[in-house]
Amino acid sequence: MKKILNFLLVGILILGLVAVSGCTDSAQGSDTSDETVEEVPTYIVGTEPYFPPFEYADENNSNEIIGFDVDLINAIAEDQGFEIEWKDLEFDALIPALQSGQIDIIVSGMTITEEREESVDFSDPYINAGLALAVAADNEEIQGVDDLEGKVAVVQQGSTGAAKADEFKEEGLIDEVIYLAHVSDIVLSIQNGRADFMINDLPVTKSYISQNPGVIKIVDDQLQSESYGFAVKSGNTELLEKLNAGLENVKADGTYDEIMEKYF
Ligand code: ARG
Repeated sequence: MKKILNFLLVGILILGLVAVSGCTDSAQGSDTSDETVEEVPTYIVGTEPYFPPFEYADENNSNEIIGFDVDLINAIAEDQGFEIEWKDLEFDALIPALQSGQIDIIVSGMTITEEREESVDFSDPYINAGLALAVAADNEEIQGVDDLEGKVAVVQQGSTGAAKADEFKEEGLIDEVIYLAHVSDIVLSIQNGRADFMINDLPVTKSYISQNPGVIKIVDDQLQSESYGFAVKSGNTELLEKLNAGLENVKADGTYDEIMEKYF
């Protein structure tokens, strides 16, 4: 008997909860009944977040991605009235993810290149960052591009640094290119002697050196000059216009300079 009573009580409780939640729903609905609610869109942003100072894990909270790119896109999102959801991917998976609709925007220190323009649309450039050549801190042999003959390169797969190393290989200048997913692995292979030199974005290599002095050194900081852009799916002009308008606004109101100050 007691069991049945309990059962009934639980049933009544559940019914009550459902009724209450139904009420709040309809209350919210009636609030806005006479005006059309502008829905805030959420865009999924893809990035490879091991690339300081552009995108990297917060050391106090490793679930949080911070960096120049993160602050910049957040400021643009606020200006343009959209929300962001982050998605971590390997760098060479970003363009395919954009094309397949898995993500809406690439924010990943991605260089605007003619080749990539064929598969995605880029925003206006938001920062200049060239490629740098770096070697082990104690390497006296390689002082610049002229000393690369027969050497082994290590690069991030899918990056412009990788394309540069491929060029060197095609020209017959170097012997081998090793492609790895993350900059930290790249440096490791310089340290353990598997590779002789790395080609990577100058601000990122500089940031690595300031965080980990005495491991690698830059021997050429002007291998190639590049500009970063945000990428959207080809033809997504609506989103591209938001990104460009937002970028212009955060540059005009001083936010861009503040972010620059914070990271560089
Ligand atoms: N700027 C280079 C490129 O576009 C490397 C970017 C790598 N970015 C990253 N988040 N891992 O190829």
